Amino acid sequence: MSNLNVMMLTNEDLSPSAIKESTGITKVLRTLCIHSKKKILLALFILIILVALITTLGVVLKKRNVKKITLTIDNATMQTLTKSGETSAATENPSITTAAENPSITTATKDPCPSRGFRWNTEGITVGIDLSPKLSCSRLFIDSNDTLYGVDNTKAYVWKLSKNDTNAITVAGIYGTKGQSSFRLENPQDVYVDQYGDIYVVDTNNHRIQKFINGSMEGITILGNGAIDDARRFRLQYPRNFAFESTEKFMYVAVHGNQNVLGFFTNRTVPAVPSVIAGNGTSGNTIYQLNGPWGIYLLPPTQNIVFVTNYDGHSVMRFSPGKSSGTFVAGIRGFSCSNSSCLHNPTDVKVDDNSTMYVVDSSNHRVQMFCQNKRQGTTIIGNGIPGNKSTQLSQPQGIAFDSAMNMYICDTGNHRVQKFLRL
Ligand SMILES: *[C@@H]1O[C@H](CO)[C@@H](O)[C@H](O)[C@H]1NC(C)=O
Ligand SMILES: *[C@@H]1O[C@H](CO)[C@@H](O)[C@H](O)[C@H]1NC(C)=O
Ligand SMILES: *[C@@H]1O[C@H](CO)[C@@H](O)[C@H](O)[C@H]1NC(C)=O
Ligand SMILES: *[C@@H]1O[C@H](CO)[C@@H](O)[C@H](O)[C@H]1NC(C)=O
Ligand SMILES: *[C@@H]1O[C@H](CO)[C@@H](O)[C@H](O)[C@H]1NC(C)=O
Ligand SMILES: *[C@@H]1O[C@H](CO)[C@@H](O)[C@H](O)[C@H]1NC(C)=O
Ligand SMILES: *[C@@H]1O[C@H](CO)[C@@H](O)[C@H](O)[C@H]1NC(C)=O
Ligand SMILES: *[C@@H]1O[C@H](CO)[C@@H](O)[C@H](O)[C@H]1NC(C)=O
Ligand SMILES: *[C@@H]1O[C@H](CO)[C@@H](O)[C@H](O)[C@H]1NC(C)=O
Repeated sequence: MSNLNVMMLTNEDLSPSAIKESTGITKVLRTLCIHSKKKILLALFILIILVALITTLGVVLKKRNVKKITLTIDNATMQTLTKSGETSAATENPSITTAAENPSITTATKDPCPSRGFRWNTEGITVGIDLSPKLSCSRLFIDSNDTLYGVDNTKAYVWKLSKNDTNAITVAGIYGTKGQSSFRLENPQDVYVDQYGDIYVVDTNNHRIQKFINGSMEGITILGNGAIDDARRFRLQYPRNFAFESTEKFMYVAVHGNQNVLGFFTNRTVPAVPSVIAGNGTSGNTIYQLNGPWGIYLLPPTQNIVFVTNYDGHSVMRFSPGKSSGTFVAGIRGFSCSNSSCLHNPTDVKVDDNSTMYVVDSSNHRVQMFCQNKRQGTTIIGNGIPGNKSTQLSQPQGIAFDSAMNMYICDTGNHRVQKFLRL
């Protein structure tokens, strides 16, 4: 310690001794040189010292500048972070709008699932904005060629928009005409297209699943018989959404009126006894029950883990095969609210390859993203206030992704389809 102190002292003493040394040198120089050269040398010496001084000053100044820049960057980052914090705060509190309404701030939000998952522009582009009739949907199906199939529940038909087409065509139902005939639909809620181009539709208010062979406008009832007076809990009473295994041999149907999820073989042409996948048949918020099942998603690759949204229970549940009980994975069961832990009438759910979950939080007019195993969501689309601006949604119902992971939302309350580009 004492040695160190001594060393430090000698170090401190170095500069004065250096000065002494240099004065010594000048003395030597003075004695060696002739009188006329003396002044020039002195001037040169002063110049050298001046140059040295300026360079050191410059370095110090430069260092200061770097520091300043770094600080500014830090502060900017901090500001962005604070602002994004404000954004989530704003979405939590619908009365605060400023931060959330500025899309550039929300776009700058850091990916909350570290180095995993994607980000999307928060400003939506309306799909087929010039088309007549306007495209609207309660659910959207996107095939491997990025062809969009939208089911419009209020107009009771299914439209198809191919990637490079400027016009949509009707592929099932009759626009604006609901009914029970094989050509008609009533409040259809979901659509799926198989490898052969055959179209399946959840014909909710007809309590049936219709299949339209590729090119045919006449539907075949593959499930349900149009009657709701069937006493069995297997009846299809207001089926809402379905999900298909990749083999397309088995489907899962979320049946709102039954308070359960049923599993069926898709090859059936007459109603048969299905298997109950989830929900004991009475509505509630226990792990054995569903509460207004609506959206359904099958988790790849095993495709036997089922995610279900409880529209009336404001939650999302996950069911493993062969288990009668599920796990709550999002929302506060039985309670609607709007902060990051909350959901209000969730209608659809999707999970990506990195286990990031996306929930259409319909009555909060937003899309929530949940990182793997996280119970708090981040608002990625919408600001919590219903509206028709490009950053807003109104009672959205469905979510789908194309091959480039662009996000499409059925902005049902606004009667439009919004596309959000992946960044
Ligand atoms: C930047 O951040 C530092 C550290 O938090 C703070 O001391 C400084 O005042 C901030 N400067 C500005 C301009 O905000
Ligand atoms: C999953 O994470 C990997 C690695 O970070 C990334 O390359 C990939 O794009 C992510 N996929 C999705 C669907 O988020
Ligand atoms: C995708 O497009 C190709 C070429 O037009 C076609 O052969 C194929 O059947 C299409 N796939 C689907 C799912 O429509
Ligand atoms: C759409 O157009 C692009 C470029 O013109 C083409 O590469 C692509 O194959 C087309 N897609 C379909 C589904 O026709
Ligand atoms: C559906 O039928 C059309 C017309 O016959 C055909 O071009 C298309 O490839 C079919 N779709 C699939 C996925 O096979
Ligand atoms: C439907 O498919 C399943 C599984 O492939 C099979 O076991 C069953 O016999 C089929 N039913 C009919 C009516 O073809
Ligand atoms: C479903 O489970 C709940 C909670 O355990 C129970 O109260 C209810 O009676 C059950 N319903 C049926 C039909 O078993
Ligand atoms: C959200 O609100 C619920 C109900 O008021 C509360 O229990 C929960 O702690 C809140 N969560 C957050 C993250 O604020
Ligand atoms: C958006 O909403 C405003 C206010 O409700 C309304 O005046 C306007 O017509 C709407 N725009 C569209 C394109 O629907």
